[in-house]
Amino acid sequence: MFEILHKQVLAHSIKRWEILAPEVAAKAQPGQFVIIRINEQGERIPLTIADYNRDRGSLTLIFQEVGRSTIEMGRLRAGDKILDLVGPLGQPSKIANYGRVVCIGGGVGIAPIYPITRALKQAGNEIISIIGARSADHLILQREMAEVSDQLYITSDDGSAGQKGFVTDVLQQLLEQGTAIDHIVAIGPLVMMKAVSELSRPYRIKTTVSLNPIMVDGTGMCGACRVAIGSETKFACVDGPEFDGHLVDWEVAQIRSRMFREEEEIAMQHITRGGDCQCHRKE
Ligand code: FAD
Ligand code: FES
Ligand code: MG
Repeated sequence: MFEILHKQVLAHSIKRWEILAPEVAAKAQPGQFVIIRINEQGERIPLTIADYNRDRGSLTLIFQEVGRSTIEMGRLRAGDKILDLVGPLGQPSKIANYGRVVCIGGGVGIAPIYPITRALKQAGNEIISIIGARSADHLILQREMAEVSDQLYITSDDGSAGQKGFVTDVLQQLLEQGTAIDHIVAIGPLVMMKAVSELSRPYRIKTTVSLNPIMVDGTGMCGACRVAIGSETKFACVDGPEFDGHLVDWEVAQIRSRMFREEEEIAMQHITRGGDCQCHRKE
């Protein structure tokens, strides 16, 4: 069992857990993820390791309540325990001194971009960060991102925080101004990562994205997370989750991410009708 040491509401429907998992914390690297299961009936939920504290033996997980399992997670409190936590999974981010790096985080994607940005800063890069959300009350980790960035741009769809518009508007402005950029890392919704990759492609700036397809086992055995990268099929859980954005087949990724939409909606109806976790019990 894994104890939730601390729980915090970060923004609208986004919560942060600090969870006790000393063996995983000892090995975790930026870019890796864990798969958790709340209880015996719970589904397997992949979540990026948003931070780790080796001294405390803890991990930070940041999640957005988007469906049945994440809503159930949001109802747990500090002191509660979850059944399973497996990790660290996936390849760590490639951290190198590229020169000037633009780090882009959209929505809950700001959570995984933060430890990568911090590691890139520590590796000697000049960091320009661009973070964006739907509105000010959906924006997370503004202070943390400011601390690890040389320049921080903020956008929101409705203009309630920073510049009105999308993170890609800022990237486009930087590119059009002729800002020299050596590397881009972008994490967020598929449409955002696709748009970033399309913007950077003509400038031939290497662009790393973190894909989050449906995952089941997280160990390369089930094939659920396959993605098309150039002419190859890769498993995001073991080969990724980071890939070259210019090689990703975005259309395949988008179709596969919608694969279980109907089942997810049915599960949501259960939870909204039931009001609590009773739906997990056999009637
Ligand atoms: P559902 O209603 O079941 O699904 C809503 C949407 O979530 C789906 O349309 C699908 O796009 C996605 N999803 C559902 N099940 C899975 C699954 N088994 N694997 C992957 N995606 C799924 N979310 C965060 O909020 N914070 C994170 O740090 C984070 N990191 C992730 C890292 C990786 C490597 C992956 C693959 C996903 C990550 N996600 C993260 C997404 C998170 O796993 C899903 O939001 C969650 O599983 C949704 O479960 P649900 O039952 O609440 O919603
Ligand atoms: Fe099963 Fe990747 S989740 S192969
Ligand atoms: Mg689900």
